[in-house]
Amino acid sequence: MKNRVNIIGKDIAHAAELLLSGQVIGMPTETVYGLAGIATDERAVTDIFRIKNRPHFDPLICHLHSIDQVSDYTGEIHPKLQSVMERHMPGPVTVLLDRLPIIPDLITSGLPRVAIRLPEHPVARELLKAVNRPLAAPSANPFGYISPTTAQHVVDQLGDKIPYVLDGDSCDVGVESTIVGVEDDHLVVYRKGGLPIESLYSIDPDLIVNSHSDSNPSAPGMLKSHYAPRKKVLIIKDIGQIDWTRSGFISFDTITSSIPEQYQRALSMSGDYSQAARGLFRAMRELDAIDDIDTIYVDLLPEEDLGRAINDRLRRAAAE
Ligand code: TXA
Ligand code: MG
Repeated sequence: MKNRVNIIGKDIAHAAELLLSGQVIGMPTETVYGLAGIATDERAVTDIFRIKNRPHFDPLICHLHSIDQVSDYTGEIHPKLQSVMERHMPGPVTVLLDRLPIIPDLITSGLPRVAIRLPEHPVARELLKAVNRPLAAPSANPFGYISPTTAQHVVDQLGDKIPYVLDGDSCDVGVESTIVGVEDDHLVVYRKGGLPIESLYSIDPDLIVNSHSDSNPSAPGMLKSHYAPRKKVLIIKDIGQIDWTRSGFISFDTITSSIPEQYQRALSMSGDYSQAARGLFRAMRELDAIDDIDTIYVDLLPEEDLGRAINDRLRRAAAE
């Protein structure tokens, strides 16, 4: 064990002071923990990329506490995105809006749009109010690894690189925000996330789901292998055919008698999507840490509600 002072705390004023002095810290949101710095401070933003080991072509989300702030950083807003914002912000959704020059190129990787999010987590909101500036915050994990859903997860992976993690308990939603923009008058979902796309169909019945690819220029960060644990992850096709030797199992609501229970995580025995999403990344981390396991078998959920976002993470984790 490293001999260090505990850097987890609940002191919002201290967190704000660190941010305003140009430092990068861990902060809670209801989706996942973020690695935050003042978005208009290029040095802080550069540090975020360095600490995460994140390539500069992968842009960052800017977090605000009030809808009234959005126009300070963005141009005209399409009515469909306006509706998304009115109905679902604050919440687990991020909108891509035309950016004003005050947003540094570094934040958007030179793209014409900036990603804006208003988190609903009370501690995040207090912190954003205290700094009263946009906070750039990617998920607080090393690039390519699973997003953190507790302050301890952040410390486990980035604790030696940052001075403080503001504790907001474990994340209520558990998967990253849904990312939405408009192209040719239609809503486009670039990342399935904590706001189920079913809640967007009333705004645009013809919305397009374009989440992910390795080469999607609108969302360059959505690399296929983005949620990979260290162990091999395999999606179950036929559960009867599996050799369970040295294996773990993540399912929606099933336990198998083929392996010990401690190698298994049923995300919600009652089949509740929110509960499943809340525990997904923790389950992946816990099984990833068990030495007696080489392979994690995962069973996809029904492709609806938050099952879509969960399946997306499971598929990415399974991608080579
Ligand atoms: O729930 C979340 O969204 C969390 C919390 C901390 O807010 N943040 C998060 O950030 O997941 P990150 O950086 O891990 O993922 C943001 C994704 C990236 O894949 C990035 O490519 C995409 O959003 N993105 C950010 N800005 C963009 C832009 N201007 N245009 C297109 N895609 C953008
Ligand atoms: Mg991330």
